[in-house]
Amino acid sequence: MSTVPDLAATAAGGSPAGDAREAGKPAGSLNALTLALKAAGEDTRLRILSLLAGGERSVKDLTDILNQSQPRISRHLKLLLEAGLIDRHREGTWAFFRLSEGVGGALARALVERLDSADPIIARDLSRLDALRAAHHDEASAYFARNAAEWDSIRSLHADDGEIEDAILKAAPQAINLMVDLGTGTARMLEVLGGRFQRAVGLDQSQDMLTYARTRLERAGLSHAQVRRGDILDLPAEVRGADFVMMHQVLHFLADPAAAVREAMSILAPGGTLMIVDFEPHALEFLRTEHAHRRLGFSTTQISAWIAEAGGSLTGSDSIAAPSADGRERLSVGLWAGQAASVPEGRA
Ligand SMILES: C[S@@+](CC[C@H](N)C(=O)[O-])C[C@H]1O[C@@H](n2cnc3c(N)ncnc32)[C@H](O)[C@@H]1O
Repeated sequence: MSTVPDLAATAAGGSPAGDAREAGKPAGSLNALTLALKAAGEDTRLRILSLLAGGERSVKDLTDILNQSQPRISRHLKLLLEAGLIDRHREGTWAFFRLSEGVGGALARALVERLDSADPIIARDLSRLDALRAAHHDEASAYFARNAAEWDSIRSLHADDGEIEDAILKAAPQAINLMVDLGTGTARMLEVLGGRFQRAVGLDQSQDMLTYARTRLERAGLSHAQVRRGDILDLPAEVRGADFVMMHQVLHFLADPAAAVREAMSILAPGGTLMIVDFEPHALEFLRTEHAHRRLGFSTTQISAWIAEAGGSLTGSDSIAAPSADGRERLSVGLWAGQAASVPEGRA
């Protein structure tokens, strides 16, 4: 088996492939790297890698940004996939792509880092990506603004709320110093866990939701909880150091759930807990077309990988199945708990 130099190390002055492996960096065979370099060595494919470097994108995102037909983009994606540069995640009729976790992904990152972001074509792609992100954001905000009043009834599409809340109470810590509820909506989670925390902050992007949330907190006498406007993907400094972070029925609305999990994990105090409650994988496409869902549920493998990528570990999971009615597909809800790493010994 031949060895190849690690790209980043070579650019920085040269260290052999063995060093790369010793340092825990991925290394690939001569064949694999030649294939990957050939696949990356083309304008559109390099632009695709640059767009995937910031997170997962759907084929539609890429066709919109690159202004090329879907068959052309799909052909490029196929080549990048075969070369191990990217990974695909299928969800119903949609597919999402991201840089791979292996040597191909590391190679793609090394190439993208060397792309000049001021290059006119790259700069235009990135500005279209920003515009697309803003459009997704507006779409979700408009949906929630329209549905703020009815949200609690939309929840009844899935397993019984009481059952889910019992599972949450069972899995959540008994005593919480600071709880942060991401995508708090009508603040139901703050109400459910109101007896457990000293202090809580609920964040949501929708002003309408926050109006309902404030009314609920006031009615429940939860003066030690506050709600604020905020974006899950750009959390304010004041919520850092939380020992319990909740994401209840939020992740499936996000274009880049992995980034949201990363951001959520980043505000946890050492040893703190992130709880994610969301749908398990399903095939109800109408939730995407009629209810702004971007993801059709999540598997334990996906959630566990995202938590691990953010430096934590999955510590528990539960599944609340929905009773089937009239033979129609119903939604099962998964509950996942992740823990941030503890402070290394001697540093506490
Ligand atoms: C389905 S509701 C769930 C609300 C609440 N967690 C619950 O279960 O009752 C999803 C909430 O996520 C919020 N949301 C979606 N994307 C967000 C983002 N990027 N930043 C902050 N909030 C977001 C929406 O405004 C909405 O209130």
